[in-house]
Amino acid sequence: MITTHELGKTYGGHTVVDGLDLHVPQGCVYGFLGPNGSGKSTTMKMLLSLVRPTRGEIHLLGRPMLRSTRRTLLRDVGALIESPPGYGHLTGGENLRLLQRLLDLTDAQVTRAVHTVRLQGHLDKRVRDYSLGMKQRLGIAMALAREPRLLILDEPTNGLDPAGIEEIRDLLTRLAAGGTTVMVSSHLLGEIDRTAGVLGILGGGRLLFQGRREQLLARSVPDVLVDTSDPRRAASVTAGAHPTRLDGATVRVSGLDRASTARMVTALVTAGVGVHGVRREEQSLEDVFMALTGGRGL
Ligand SMILES: Nc1ncnc2c1ncn2[C@@H]1O[C@H](COP(=O)(O)OP(=O)(O)OP(=O)(O)O)[C@@H](O)[C@H]1O
Ligand SMILES: [Mg+2]
Repeated sequence: MITTHELGKTYGGHTVVDGLDLHVPQGCVYGFLGPNGSGKSTTMKMLLSLVRPTRGEIHLLGRPMLRSTRRTLLRDVGALIESPPGYGHLTGGENLRLLQRLLDLTDAQVTRAVHTVRLQGHLDKRVRDYSLGMKQRLGIAMALAREPRLLILDEPTNGLDPAGIEEIRDLLTRLAAGGTTVMVSSHLLGEIDRTAGVLGILGGGRLLFQGRREQLLARSVPDVLVDTSDPRRAASVTAGAHPTRLDGATVRVSGLDRASTARMVTALVTAGVGVHGVRREEQSLEDVFMALTGGRGL
């Protein structure tokens, strides 16, 4: 649904998005992750023609985005960028009626969008009296009403409480199950990692990883922990071949694949060190991200 080639943006000599090759497959939730300032919003704005790319190409819905095709292509795209839209002094219902007239939508389309985000029953309230979660849902309803094939949401979970975040996650899962492709950004991995079938991770304007969650986990090589009768001696044996640290009585060895783990155990036994246990440290997706983004976290 989205393909970019070498997409980049430079502001006054400062490159904020650097040669992105994005691939957003049809019918998935694509989680676009990155720390603050990594270029998520700028990228999404380029996809929506709100910011002009400095270089690169964009294909949306299988067609190149050009000056001549832009308007037609964007008719099939719904978006929520940064703060939710809507006039605060009007009710949710009035905001939706304005949008309906503007986009020439049917009553059924608006009603369906309202039901999808479960905002029925709140339409007579003024938007400025809405909770943040209700504002986000109204914003998503406004993006959905035109029944887009592609939905681009910039940090829709920002500032929501856990229940609100769960509601948005649920909504995204339902939308994808119904065939809508959703690209959703967040600076918090935990907010979308389980919802997103595909992850794109930005750091400093570059794409550090793109693929399925499991592929990301598979990339990591967690430390091997060795329990032995003589940790100091064990550490002196392994330190010759691999980065080694002593963690109390546990020897922690980094960067070992399966074959080198076997060789390390042989070396320890040959040196006469009693090996009591060898295990792989548990590594969470969060740890992998931290390593990828240089500890700045997500
Ligand atoms: N109009 C602009 N002019 C100059 N610099 C800009 C402009 N817009 C964004 N930037 C810079 O580009 C970088 C990326 O910003 P962007 O808003 O895309 O990041 P982000 O990943 O969305 O961050 P956040 O998580 O804070 O929303 C930042 O360093 C920002 O200061
Ligand atoms: Mg942003």
